[in-house]
Amino acid sequence: MPVIHFIDMNRKVTCVPGANLREVALRERYPVYQGIHQLLNCHGNGLCGTCKVAVIEGRTMPRNATERKRLKGVPEPWRLACQFEVLDNVTVTTDAKRVAEHAKATAEAARKAKAG
Ligand code: FES
Repeated sequence: MPVIHFIDMNRKVTCVPGANLREVALRERYPVYQGIHQLLNCHGNGLCGTCKVAVIEGRTMPRNATERKRLKGVPEPWRLACQFEVLDNVTVTTDAKRVAEHAKATAEAARKAKAG
């Protein structure tokens, strides 16, 4: 059973393989949507782009066609929660600052590994 670590809430939950990330997040009261988008969103149809979450750890499938269209120009690791199937343990966040810190740490680790 995959484990989703909602790092902003410091909470881990298990789900069935292939579970929809948005549905699990809403069930667990994780704030996928920000501000007015809590009310105004496409309810998981891949149309609004307001369910963005960053998957900062864990194995993921490539973005599907809907994500490629809606997230054009948006860097990895951002994904649409409504289009994301959880197949493995993942860590997710909606905090852009945390995503930037993670990217910086990952780049630093890669630089050190390359340097030997
Ligand atoms: S809920 Fe609208 S794109 Fe995901």
